[in-house]
Amino acid sequence: MGMVITIDGPAASGKSSVSRELARRLGWQWVSTGAFYRGLAFAALQLQIDLDDVKNLAELTHNPVWSVRMNEDRTRVFFQDQDVTDLIAHEDVGNFASKVSHYPEVRKALLDAQRGCSDGPQGLVAEGRDCGTVVFPKAEAKVYLTAHSANRAARRAAELGLDHEDMVKAQQQRDLQDSTRKVAPMAVPEDALVVDTTTLNLEQVVDKVEQFVRSKVD
Ligand code: DC
Repeated sequence: MGMVITIDGPAASGKSSVSRELARRLGWQWVSTGAFYRGLAFAALQLQIDLDDVKNLAELTHNPVWSVRMNEDRTRVFFQDQDVTDLIAHEDVGNFASKVSHYPEVRKALLDAQRGCSDGPQGLVAEGRDCGTVVFPKAEAKVYLTAHSANRAARRAAELGLDHEDMVKAQQQRDLQDSTRKVAPMAVPEDALVVDTTTLNLEQVVDKVEQFVRSKVD
């Protein structure tokens, strides 16, 4: 396993943008682990598998009908050989992903694939909710990003062209689900650098994170 940096945090806290830019600066790969939950939820909806049907959901985690591929630009999801990365970006798929992510059987079944992302020759920046606590507990450096709820909603609403108030509600519901679930709830890992991104731009956040990371891995 190569070196790993983890970046966790709530919905739209900037995890993907920061991971992408940090990975670019380090010359490493990056992965959004949320893509595994979004891809699974999307595949379940397409195949009309009930989101409460844990047995079939756990089986679907290993079904080659869908897959996740790392990419410099975005973590890509394929379903029946179609690139569905844009489709899984919708907030309703995020909410379904949050629902399927509650099941221990599902989380356990996705762990190997997520850990496998660190097998390559380069280091890996992994972002999600439990990357520092569960997926890569021995990561070289751990970061937790946070931002005010209204600010995060504004960011995502602008990205997706949606109503701001609806987005605040949807994200609050998802964050509550993710932080109160029994298995691997979203939490600040021990020894993590916590960065509040509310008043910072992307470059300022990445500068802080890069400085911290380099102090651990260089
Ligand atoms: O980061 P995201 O918005 O793409 O994640 C979608 C959902 O997937 C999130 O609401 C909860 C789940 N998730 C998780 O449980 N653990 C992770 N490491 C990443 C995402």
